[in-house]
Amino acid sequence: MQFLRSQPVILKKIIRPDGSHYRRGERYSSSAEWVTGGLLGEGAYGKVHLCEDLANAIKKQHAVKETKLREFNPVEADSWLRLGFSRHVCGLNAVTLQDGAVWWHMELINPRVSLKQLVEIHQPKPLHWRDAVTIATGIFSAIAHIHSYSVKHCDLHPGNVMLCKDLRVKVIDFSLLQPAVTNDDFSLDVQNGLQLFLYMVTAKSFRFSWTEALVQEHVKDDKVLPLVLKMFQPVTNQTAADIAKEFSACRVKGVDEADGIRKDDAASVDRQDIVRESFATAVSEDDVLTAVHNHISQGDSLDDIFAALPEGDNIICD
Ligand SMILES: Nc1ncnc2c1ncn2[C@@H]1O[C@H](COP(=O)(O)OP(=O)(O)O)[C@@H](O)[C@H]1O
Ligand SMILES: [Mg+2]
Repeated sequence: MQFLRSQPVILKKIIRPDGSHYRRGERYSSSAEWVTGGLLGEGAYGKVHLCEDLANAIKKQHAVKETKLREFNPVEADSWLRLGFSRHVCGLNAVTLQDGAVWWHMELINPRVSLKQLVEIHQPKPLHWRDAVTIATGIFSAIAHIHSYSVKHCDLHPGNVMLCKDLRVKVIDFSLLQPAVTNDDFSLDVQNGLQLFLYMVTAKSFRFSWTEALVQEHVKDDKVLPLVLKMFQPVTNQTAADIAKEFSACRVKGVDEADGIRKDDAASVDRQDIVRESFATAVSEDDVLTAVHNHISQGDSLDDIFAALPEGDNIICD
């Protein structure tokens, strides 16, 4: 892990939340000083770095995103904080101002493979329906969580869906968060969630213009077709939660078939060991992505690959 200790970023003003909220169960360092480390990613709105608090008591790493002050969206800060820390949504620790920039201190997602990277690695083949259903269950659980706080994400695309160990979904990027009141307010996220599912099972562009007829043509599976067709129906604040349950049930319905294949396949046990070994030596985020790539090319199942994904805070950037 490399931190730029010679250039500490001293954060002067904490605007949100109050000290007791900085990281679950822990406090701000009284001086609110931390150092930024290696680059984790870069998007349209700003760079995301690894970050470490300088206070000895708070050594746990987190991620920090820097955005321009004029792009500060107080709704993002208030609503994102209210979402708290949950299984499928990246949590916000604190928001600080310094030198005309806003710094969003958030939960570190590590290691992470975005849904965009996963589908691109897989292309031209789509994902297996079972994996797509597992991931869609996580995506809709995230949307249901967000909608239950009367807000909408508005920017659910494959680059904002991260996949962690065991294919667990973590939704990131709350730059476009908005209050959601009317039933119509909830429809964009639901439609985007179903577009993400179609992106996984067809490998067609995420922005593909689906019509009802095209959906019928491409989705032959009776388990998922009625769910996907909800993209053409009106929604309420409960729709995402209902769809999450239905995706979860789809997986259960298909499990006998899936288990039958796996139980008879003794070779799969050997492969699991091989996959585990290659992740044991993956040190950096790039190593992890390369290992995912190699195992997908060798035909290993996403279940085996993501079961072997490491978990934890110690990563090397740069
Ligand atoms: N909490 C996080 N932990 C680890 N990496 C992150 C985190 N948040 C964002 N990133 C990385 O930074 C990139 C850009 O972040 P994002 O919030 O999507 O920015 P933008 O609004 O510019 O799209 C992501 O694609 C991801 O690779
Ligand atoms: Mg983004």
